[in-house]
Amino acid sequence: MTDRKHILLVTSSPRGAEGLSTRFALEIAEGLKLRSGGALTARDLASEPLPHITPAYIEGRMVPLESRTPEQAQAVGLAEELVNEIKSADAIVIGSGMINFGLSSQLKAWFDHITWPGMTFKYDENGPSGLLLGKKVYLVTASGGVFSQGPYAPFDFQTGYLTHLLAFIGLTDVEIVRVEGTVFGPDAAKAAIAATQVQVQAALDRAA
Ligand SMILES: Cc1cc2nc3c(=O)[nH]c(=O)nc-3n(C[C@H](O)[C@H](O)[C@H](O)COP(=O)(O)O)c2cc1C
Repeated sequence: MTDRKHILLVTSSPRGAEGLSTRFALEIAEGLKLRSGGALTARDLASEPLPHITPAYIEGRMVPLESRTPEQAQAVGLAEELVNEIKSADAIVIGSGMINFGLSSQLKAWFDHITWPGMTFKYDENGPSGLLLGKKVYLVTASGGVFSQGPYAPFDFQTGYLTHLLAFIGLTDVEIVRVEGTVFGPDAAKAAIAATQVQVQAALDRAA
């Protein structure tokens, strides 16, 4: 049985119930929960989108709590809630569908809130370092095309960017599960989904 006790599931597909990243991220999160007997916190950024970051957030996080305007307090309070969700998680499962070669704006807004100097990363004489340590991340990326190999691999601005953002805040233990090549007709989509199911099962077996 895995020792991963608290799981945070972050989904973001703007395709709602059709979202393959959401489907497989949920499958992993529920599988981890079953194996660990732990708790699952779910945040769906598509059904409850975050606002874009604003001056109230950027300036508000630089002033002490008691000096914040109500608008700043609200903006910073939301970011604190998101950071606390990650801090209290042992495993984080993220579902990301490729939108125009990158991540959705819903998921980008989440990273914009949680990538926070002094909270999730710091700068010192050795440069930047992440503060979210000892956590496992399962990253499910879905795309219509194939990006893990072949001619389109250099244009995968989703997986590389996400793993960089995660590493920047200390999340370096990342297992990637891909759903790719679903755009080439029903047979290809079926095969892609079957290949992802194998990856999901393997990830859960390793966690067991
Ligand atoms: C607005 C939009 C933009 C997309 N852009 C791309 C793209 O740039 N490259 C690609 O391979 N697939 C693209 N797709 C296909 C999606 O990546 C694919 O449907 C994937 O499964 C989406 O993730 P989801 O199933 O979790 O929603 C796009 C789909 C939509 C709706």
